[in-house]
Formats: sequence, C-alpha cells, structure tokens
Amino acid sequence: MTDFQQYYKAIGILPWQQRQKPSPFTPTALSDWDTLKQRVEACTACTLHQTRTQTVFGVGNRQAKLMIIGEAPGFHEDQQGEPFVGRAGQLLTAMIRAIGFDRSDVYIANILKCRPPENRDPKQEEVACCTPFLNQQIALVKPQLLLAVGRIASHYLLNTKSSLESLRNKMHSYGADEIPLIVTFHPAYLLRNPADKKKAFLDLQFTQRTLRAFTHGSLPRINTQAL
Ligand code: URA
Repeated sequence: MTDFQQYYKAIGILPWQQRQKPSPFTPTALSDWDTLKQRVEACTACTLHQTRTQTVFGVGNRQAKLMIIGEAPGFHEDQQGEPFVGRAGQLLTAMIRAIGFDRSDVYIANILKCRPPENRDPKQEEVACCTPFLNQQIALVKPQLLLAVGRIASHYLLNTKSSLESLRNKMHSYGADEIPLIVTFHPAYLLRNPADKKKAFLDLQFTQRTLRAFTHGSLPRINTQAL
C-alpha cells in the first residue's frame, strides 16, 4: 500500500479509483444531463414547486474536479435560474477565485432545486425528494472533491448534527463512492460574520492543497493551526 493509500485508510476513507469520464460530446453524456435537467424542471414531488418561479439546476464545468454544494436557491437564484447569483453568490465567486479557479471551472449545485418560501430552512421531506437529483449530478460530474458550504448542506451530506466548527478542517467522504468532502462556512453566514472569513480562507487553502495532492499523488496536509 502506498503512503497515500495508508493515509486515507488511517482517516477512514477507503481507496477509490477515478473513473473514466464520458466525453461531453458523446450523445449519451448529453442526453444524461438533458434528461436529468428536464426531470428537475418537471418535478412536483414536494410542495416547493407551487411557490417557485423556476427550478435552479446547477451551473459550471460538468467535468469539474471540484463540486461546490450549497443549501437552496434564494430570491435571486429563483428569479434567474442559477445557483449563487445574489450577494452570497458574489462572495462565493470570490472564494472560488481565492483558490485559483474561475466560477466556470467548478460545478455548483444546491441540495434543493427550488426556493423555500422566505428562504426558510429546507424540510427533511424536501431534501429527501431532491437528494436523488443531486446524487445524479454528482454521478455525472464525478468530482474529485466536494466542498459543502454551510451548516445545512454539511449536515445533510454528512448525516450529522455536529457543529460546522467541528466539521471544518477534516477530510470527510460522501456516499457509497466515498467521495472526499470538505466543509466550510456558507458565504451568506460570512457576510453576516466577516470575522470568520479568515477561517473560511484556511478551509479554502485546505481544499486547494487537497486538489493539488490528488493531482500530484501526495498527501494533503491538515492545517494544524486552523483558527
Ligand atoms: N444560498 C445557497 O445555499 N444556494 C444558492 O444558490 C444561493 C444562496
């Protein structure tokens, strides 16, 4: 077993293999995405379809190494049909740039595809209806790393109620494929609590180191000085 594999075994992540990605130009890949998007647009599985302006599917590079997962569309996202386009979205874009990516380099999606009225927290049954869509997006993108932004996304993806603080600066994994997952603050929280931007920056650096380690086959360093 290589050092790399031993490290992941030690932190509880079983070895995984990067699968071959289908070419985005093959009819199969295109129709998978198109079918999924049409299913989301037609979804009436929970009551949120009654109040939405439109569904908010996801945006970005469908072959991204990094997939960012938020909570649910807000007012602007519901209006424009794209995740993270409001003030929080502008901060998320700046966070993405801070680790050397453009918004178009990563794939961005939410747990819920419809806006909860008054931006209330998602209900368990809404998440249960919508998670299969997110899982299919993850299966199509095949990211190397997931970045969960905020308490709600982190709690649902990791099936935990632990504080966001205790989930930060750790390597988690998601789903049967055990896709590596890192947690950070939601940009809307950071707008209200700018002092925590320093911690978010450390999380982003951890994200960047992890992606580099995946590319170079070395071990990502956990930040021992995380604030
Ligand atoms: N907050 C989210 O979690 N997602 C969005 O798309 C917008 C705001």
